[in-house]
Order: sequence, then structure tokens, then C-alpha cells
Amino acid sequence: MVSVSPLQGADGEILGVLGIARDMTETKKLERQIRNAEKLASIGQLAAGVAHEINNPLGGILNCLYNLRKGTLSPARQEEYWASMEHGVRRVQKIVRQLLDFSQQHEPAFSQADINRIVDQVLELTTHLFASNHIHLETFPTHDVPSVMVDRHMIEQVLMNLILNAVQAMKNGGVLTIRTSVAEGICRVEVSDTGSGIPASVLPRIFDPFFTTKGEGEGTGLGLSVNLGIVERHGGKLLVESEVGKGTMFTLCLPVSRERAFAERET
Ligand SMILES: Nc1ncnc2c1ncn2[C@@H]1O[C@H](COP(=O)(O)OP(=O)(O)O)[C@@H](O)[C@H]1O
Ligand SMILES: [Mg+2]
Repeated sequence: MVSVSPLQGADGEILGVLGIARDMTETKKLERQIRNAEKLASIGQLAAGVAHEINNPLGGILNCLYNLRKGTLSPARQEEYWASMEHGVRRVQKIVRQLLDFSQQHEPAFSQADINRIVDQVLELTTHLFASNHIHLETFPTHDVPSVMVDRHMIEQVLMNLILNAVQAMKNGGVLTIRTSVAEGICRVEVSDTGSGIPASVLPRIFDPFFTTKGEGEGTGLGLSVNLGIVERHGGKLLVESEVGKGTMFTLCLPVSRERAFAERET
């Protein structure tokens, strides 16, 4: 990281420039490690839902195999069973692929992306958690959202963290609402829950690294601080509004303008 500033004499005349160069390698490495630790923690939370999602089609496939092996099925029935097995295998393949994609370390890379697609991608992995937690999902995508210049994997992680927090805040079920919109060059993704809400005394600390109100094994306290780092890299903002007993809304704001995103990319 290089910062340059003018060096002025007593009368304000410019005598030269002062340049400071700092080696950011270690900082970047640490940031990456923290992002990854947080990612592993999210995968832990997703595991039960994903395992269930894999187990169901596997049970179906085994059942088909068993019946096919008996050899008493009519050809039409056999065809039906083959098709059903293929459908099941593809379902498993899809979820495994998504989980792998989410869990891998990716080199930072910015590209034009459709924010609604990123939201869908994250929901495909988290959706299996909703039913078991009595959570009803409502999505309101705005379809004329222009593409944004983002690191897709990082924004997926941001949304994953917000959604997992929302799920954890709705211990007795509730409604998770996700809304995308665009106005004045800013693309917004709102993630709101009808959960516990955040007390005013806690609110100023939620973005601090390692700050958590959750029990051991439930929270790392890194989710929101990782999110903040990622959002700042994108030249965006992460806003929060919350009311105890009513719920919480996080709003991810990303600039649509390419120039801005490109400028961030250089840093
Ligand atoms: N949707 C939410 N509802 C209620 N509290 C929240 C929500 N999101 C975050 N919090 C609060 O912010 C804290 C920090 O969140 P985070 O950085 O994701 O760490 P963790 O989830 O591991 O505790 C949480 O422990 C919780 O107290
Ligand atoms: Mg969290």
C-alpha cells in the first residue's frame, strides 16, 4: 500500500513529496485466513441441512435399485425408475457442487455479476435450514437490477453470513425476507428477519471481530467483521436496523458504477 502526500515548507510552498510504502502481504494473508475460518464455521452450520438434502434422494435411489434388481417390473415401470434415479443423482450432484464451490478458497476476482443470481445461489445452500427451523422465506427480487462489479464468492459469503445470523436469531421460527433493489447508482440487498432483534447496548459492537452473544460452538463472532471487510473492499456499505423482539434488517449496498468498483479493485 502506497500513500503519497505533499511536503510543504513554512510558506506553504511544496518542497517535495512524502511517500510511504507498506508491505501488506501479512495483513492480506491474515484477512484471507479469517475469511476462511468463518467460511468453515458457516459450512458447519449448513451441514445438517445439506446432509438431509443428500440423504433423501439417496434413499429414493436405493429403493429404485432394489426394485429394478427384483426384475419383475414392466419395461415402462423400469424406465420410470431409471429416470427417477437420474433425477436423484443430479440433485445430489448439484448440492455437492454448490457446497464445494462455497467451501473452496478462491483468488480474489472481480467481474460483472447479477446480484439476484448470487442471492439464489446462496439460498440454494441455506434453504434446507429453513423448514427444520420453521422459517418461512419470502424473496422480492427486482428484475431490472443492473449487473454489479463484484467478487462473486465474497458477496456470497456476505449474504451467507447475514442469512445464517437471521436463522440463528429466529429460534422459534419466523419470516426471512430478502429484497433486491436499485436506486441512485446503488444496488441494495435487504436481509430481514423477525427474530430476537439486537439490544441498543449490543448494536455498536456487532461488527467487532470476535464479538458474539452466542454460545461456544454456535458463533465465532467473525461473520459481521468479515462482512464489513468485504463490503469496504467493494466500496459499499452494510447498514443495520433492529428492534428488540421485532427483528433485524441488514442492508448490503453496492455501487453500480464500474469506475468505482474498478478503483477498489486496484487497492
Ligand atoms: N440477524 C440478527 N439478529 C439478532 N442478532 C444479530 C443478528 N445478526 C447479528 N447479530 C448479533 O451480532 C453478533 C455478531 O454477529 P457475527 O459477527 O455474525 O458473529 P456470530 O454470529 O458468530 O455471533 C451476534 O452474536 C448477534 O448478537
Ligand atoms: Mg454470524
